[in-house]
Amino acid sequence: MLLILVYMQEQKVALVTGSSSGIGFETDLLLARTGFYTYASMRNLEKSKNIVEIANRENLPLQIVQLDVNDDESIKKAVDKIVREKERIDVLVNNAGYGLFGSVEDLTIDEIKAQFETNFFGIVRVTQRILPIMRMRNNGGAIVNISSVGGQMGVPFLSAYNSTKFAVEGLSESMAYELEPFGIKVIIIEPGFIRTNIINSSILGKKALDPNSPYFSFTQKLADHFNSMVNNTSTSTPPEEVAKIILSSITSEKPKLRYTVGNDASAAIQAKRDMTDAEFMEMIKKQFQ
Ligand SMILES: NC(=O)c1ccc[n+]([C@@H]2O[C@H](COP(=O)([O-])OP(=O)(O)OC[C@H]3O[C@@H](n4cnc5c(N)ncnc54)[C@H](OP(=O)(O)O)[C@@H]3O)[C@@H](O)[C@H]2O)c1
Repeated sequence: MLLILVYMQEQKVALVTGSSSGIGFETDLLLARTGFYTYASMRNLEKSKNIVEIANRENLPLQIVQLDVNDDESIKKAVDKIVREKERIDVLVNNAGYGLFGSVEDLTIDEIKAQFETNFFGIVRVTQRILPIMRMRNNGGAIVNISSVGGQMGVPFLSAYNSTKFAVEGLSESMAYELEPFGIKVIIIEPGFIRTNIINSSILGKKALDPNSPYFSFTQKLADHFNSMVNNTSTSTPPEEVAKIILSSITSEKPKLRYTVGNDASAAIQAKRDMTDAEFMEMIKKQFQ
């Protein structure tokens, strides 16, 4: 009985956003399988059937909670529920996000703002809500922000997406200093092409879809290129690999600030470091010819 009580007291609690598919889905399962009490959050609970079935079958410590990172009230409700039930949050994985394709000229301000609302402000909102809880127990914790290799370099027709991920990198670097005195680790994950639903859930700007746009054919070509890179098993990495890196980073005594996932991501980041801007741009252009 005492052992059970100790286990219950010590069991760490994780919250993951964007759990309906891909990286979030796999991270939830891996964390729960490793013993974290995992709140798999998603904005649309109708998408929970699959993960609930697996969790029930394997008897995992996993619970679904509704959370839309664009909606303050839903974040508050989700976090209040976790605090009521568990009185702690040890790990937050800010994963929810989507892509927006289109040239700067073709994208509307509203489309770009919506992209920032989810990919950047969504992280800020959830983080602000959980930090007082993480600090309260004086027991450290970890915040994992899912950036992208696109948080280190811009590519054509993904300027809005790249900008959100650059912003996530800056936010995370600053947070790392602020939270260090409280023992809270900030970890940036930079995946390359990962085989998930990301292309289906990405949006092409409305004007970018207009065949009269001067950018139309190039935008289509780039979107097709990304589609084949993500869905081709020889050029992309399965989401389980991202989950493994997240788990190893949060369980490490001294995690690094940044982790890249996928050979494509490591090679691109290394090339960006080693090459001049002009050389790097030539290399990127060749990939899309
Ligand atoms: N796949 C890649 O190649 C790749 C590479 C680098 C970085 N990333 C990043 O990895 C993260 C996860 O993407 P993924 O590849 O796993 O794609 P995914 O399978 O499309 O998953 C994205 C998740 O984000 C959720 N989401 C979107 N907007 C949301 C909101 N307002 N509130 C709550 N959840 C929301 C989606 O929910 P719904 O099902 O309701 O839409 C879905 O659960 C994203 O931040 C993405 O930018 C992906």
